[in-house]
Amino acid sequence: MSKGINPVRNFVQSDSQGDIFNRVKVAVLGATGFTGEKLVEILLGHPQVEITYLASQTPEPVAYKTLLPNFTGKTETICEPLDISEAITKSDFFFLSLPHTVSMEFAPSLLAAGKKVVDLSADYRLKDTSLYQEYYNTAHKDQGNLAKGVYGLAEIYHKQIAKSNLVANPGCYPTSIILALFPLVKEGLINGKVVVDSKSAISGAGRKTAAKLRSMDVANNFWAYKPFVHQHTPEILSILKDASGENIDLSFIPHVAGMAAGIYSTICLNSNKKVSKDEISDIYKKYYQDSPFIRIKEDLPKLGDVVGTNFCDIGFAVNVDGKEIVLVSCLDNLIKGAAGAAVQNMNIMLGWDEAIGLK
Ligand SMILES: NC(=O)c1ccc[n+]([C@@H]2O[C@H](COP(=O)([O-])OP(=O)(O)OC[C@H]3O[C@@H](n4cnc5c(N)ncnc54)[C@H](OP(=O)(O)O)[C@@H]3O)[C@@H](O)[C@H]2O)c1
Repeated sequence: MSKGINPVRNFVQSDSQGDIFNRVKVAVLGATGFTGEKLVEILLGHPQVEITYLASQTPEPVAYKTLLPNFTGKTETICEPLDISEAITKSDFFFLSLPHTVSMEFAPSLLAAGKKVVDLSADYRLKDTSLYQEYYNTAHKDQGNLAKGVYGLAEIYHKQIAKSNLVANPGCYPTSIILALFPLVKEGLINGKVVVDSKSAISGAGRKTAAKLRSMDVANNFWAYKPFVHQHTPEILSILKDASGENIDLSFIPHVAGMAAGIYSTICLNSNKKVSKDEISDIYKKYYQDSPFIRIKEDLPKLGDVVGTNFCDIGFAVNVDGKEIVLVSCLDNLIKGAAGAAVQNMNIMLGWDEAIGLK
C-alpha cells in the first residue's frame, strides 16, 4: 500500500524548467508563514502546477527569495501584498495558509469567481458555528460556504473532496488523532473514556510564536497546555461523529516539545471485547489499504521516520488482558498535518493521483 512512495525530503527544484503551459495556475495566500513556505517547497516540485501568485502582509512586492533566502535559485516569483482581485486574475487554484478569521474574509470572493480553494485555517472545519464562536472567540462570517465545505482528510472523505470546490484542511493534531481512532470508533470497539496525549513541535504555533518560543530556549523544554479546552477538541469529536455515527468520551491533553517538526499522539483506551494485536492490525489494514500515506507499523512508530514526509505512521500495543489498547500516531505537522495534506487534497479535487508531487 505505501510501498514505492518515497519521502518528500529534499525535493525542491527550479521552477524555470519544463513546459508550464498546461499546468494549473496555483496561488498561496500566506506564503511567508510556516505552512505557506512548505507549500511553496512542495508545489515547486509538483509536475502539474505552476505557482502564479504568492501573497502575505508584505507592504510592497518583494522577491520571495529575498524574504526566504533558502529559495534562492529555486523561484523568481514575487511575493505581493494580498490583493484578492489581482489574485483572481492570476490563479485558478488557491491555498489559504492564513490565520483563522482571515481565510473567511477572502474565500467567498474566490469561490464566487469559480476558483477552487483549500483552506489550511480552522474557518471551514466546524459545521456548528456555536462551537466556532466558543473555541475561536469570534462569530463565523461565511455560513453559506461553511455548509458547502468538505473536511479534507483524504483517507476518510476522498469521494466528497473530489467533488468539492472548498476543502477545509484538517488541523495537525486532529489528523494524527482522527486517523488513529477512526477504525476502532467505526468498528464500535471503544469502551468508555479515551485519553489522548499529543506532543507538537514548536512550528505548530506559526512562525512568529515559534520565534518567541525559541528565544525561551525551548529546545530543552517540554510542557502541557490547554488540557480539555484546546480548540482542536471539537474538531476531533465532530469529525469522528460525522464519519462513524459514534459519540466518544475523549480527553485531549496537548503538549509543546522543543523539536522543530512533528506531532506524536499517544492514545489510551479500553476495548469492549477481548482483542489480539493481530485482530487490531487487520482492522487498520482493512480501513487504510487504499491510503498511500498511512503506514501501519508492527512496532510503535518513531517520529524521525515521518518528519520530512507526507506519511502518518500508526502503531499499537494491546495489554495481556486483551482489553487495554495504546495507539500511537505520528506525522510531520507541516506536511501531512498541513501542506502535504493540502496538496493531496488539490490532487484529488483536480482528478489526479493523490500522491503526485508528494513522492
Ligand atoms: N503550523 C502548523 O503546524 C499548522 C498545521 C496545520 C494548520 N495550520 C494552520 O494554517 C494556517 C497558517 O499557519 P502557519 O503556521 O503557516 O502560520 P504563520 O507562520 O503565522 O503564517 C501566517 C501567514 O499568513 C500571512 N497573513 C497573516 N495575516 C494576513 C492578512 N491579514 N493578509 C494577508 N496575509 C496574512 C502572514 O504574512 P506575514 O508573514 O507577512 O505576516 C504569513 O504569511 C493557520 O490557520 C494555522 O492554524 C498550521
